[in-house]
Amino acid sequence: MMGSTSDWTTMEHCVATLDQLGIDSEVRALSAHRTPAAVKAFVEEADENGIEVFIAAAGGAAHLAGVVAAHTDRPVLGVPIESKSLKGMDSLLSTVQMPAGVPVGTLAIGKAGAINAALLAAQILGVADAEIRDAVVRYRAARTEKVLQDSKSLTRAS
Ligand code: RP5
Repeated sequence: MMGSTSDWTTMEHCVATLDQLGIDSEVRALSAHRTPAAVKAFVEEADENGIEVFIAAAGGAAHLAGVVAAHTDRPVLGVPIESKSLKGMDSLLSTVQMPAGVPVGTLAIGKAGAINAALLAAQILGVADAEIRDAVVRYRAARTEKVLQDSKSLTRAS
């Protein structure tokens, strides 16, 4: 979920990573402030339909992940969107500072957080699903290989 369609340029990286890992997802742009009733309705419906992990991204006064967490007992991961005025520090603090008893697993600001939210969701699902666990292992191995290859070409170029 994301607070606005303007968050998609960040969250498309999350969905692309989930796709790469072979994990089905549903995407909604719903706001904790502009469409609170629709957020509640979607979370409750998703819960009933057996959704396993929620990922919620928002920017500025970023309350979406916290509101989602208030309506479900499934794991909720929060992605702070990089806002224009405060570079996402507002989003980070609004997402991470949950009161004891209602956790939101908060990732990094922006694209890195979006990608890592997908990977962390996969790792959560992977505890009970060997196929997803293998997909995460392959993903990480490919990243390791890429860094080593990139390093080699740099060495050759210098
Ligand atoms: C938040 O306000 C959204 O998550 C978005 O990051 C930010 C700005 O939204 P728009 O004004 O671009 O719709 O609720």
